[in-house]
Amino acid sequence: MDFSFAAFSKSFFHALAGSGTIKEAASRYGMRRPTSFARRFIAGERVEEAIEAARAIEADGMLVTLDFLGESVASIDEAAAATRDYLGVVDAIAAAGIGRNISLKLTQLGLDVDRATTVDNLRRILDRAAAQDFFVRIDMESSAYTERTLEIFETLWQQGYRNAGVVIQSYLRRSEKDVRRMNALGARVRLVKGAYKEPKDAAYQSMDEVNAQYLELMRLLLDEGTYPAIATHDPPMIEATRAHAASRGYPTGRFEFQMLYGIRRDLQARLSSDGYPFRVYVPFGRDWFPYFMRRLGERPANVLFVAKSLLR
Ligand code: FDA
Repeated sequence: MDFSFAAFSKSFFHALAGSGTIKEAASRYGMRRPTSFARRFIAGERVEEAIEAARAIEADGMLVTLDFLGESVASIDEAAAATRDYLGVVDAIAAAGIGRNISLKLTQLGLDVDRATTVDNLRRILDRAAAQDFFVRIDMESSAYTERTLEIFETLWQQGYRNAGVVIQSYLRRSEKDVRRMNALGARVRLVKGAYKEPKDAAYQSMDEVNAQYLELMRLLLDEGTYPAIATHDPPMIEATRAHAASRGYPTGRFEFQMLYGIRRDLQARLSSDGYPFRVYVPFGRDWFPYFMRRLGERPANVLFVAKSLLR
């Protein structure tokens, strides 16, 4: 991939993600019918639709994590509402009998508004989740939140919350230190390349550097980490992970692979049938627009797909 074009496309779609008018139009058409364009990447707006998608994935022998989409709430009331919604999602998943695993973002719980409130909100979700044997993954947002996210995670870890894990992004220059920091705790890490538009001083800008650090961190996590998740759709990253595990004689259950709903389904099925624990990240909810824009920005060919389905 031409990385400068990729960088341009990332900025373009991040800018669009902030546009209220486009968001409104997309929200009106994007999910309306089963064939609507956003449904390729988003399981639906309601938890029942996500549960149905999860059942189909599990029927194919794969695991799931459900993400009730939402981010950047601007008031304590909105953060409280998001927290209540998440508690409802936990209960709905438990009642449905699907895999007990969720992903969430701290700006959804109020990180832009008040840190102490965010910690309280997260603690409420972790308590409800722990009582029902859930695992909670704290997604990683832009580098403005990295340190605060890890600190909040560490605080709760020290308080005995062990049903949670974090995400580390290989494009950030700081990430080797962060992986070592999480490995020392014994915390579960999901390794991704990173989806946000980041400045040069915080993040590598060339795909070669991002990939090189991905491979280094993957080895560090497999060798010294606790049940890491290797989350990528990139075949060379996946092959290198398999090769490293094989060269060390690691059993397939030492780590898991993860991919996003609707992306590289062929690879998802292959890895799962090769016997690796394999988890699909299933996003749903009414606030799907920023997530959807990040997916478009990663792969401009997706824009053609959207344009075609709009014409249809
Ligand atoms: P790369 O972008 O190099 O893509 C490799 C290949 O994958 C492409 O050539 C294409 O075939 C396919 N592909 C990738 N993206 C595609 C798309 N949008 N549409 C169609 N095909 C696509 N990021 C973050 O910053 N914080 C987080 O918490 C998470 N969480 C997360 C969970 C899981 C389970 C996954 C898989 C990913 C994330 N991410 C994330 C997103 C991640 O940072 C990254 O943006 C995407 O995974 C794309 O990077 P790849 O590793 O797939 O490689």
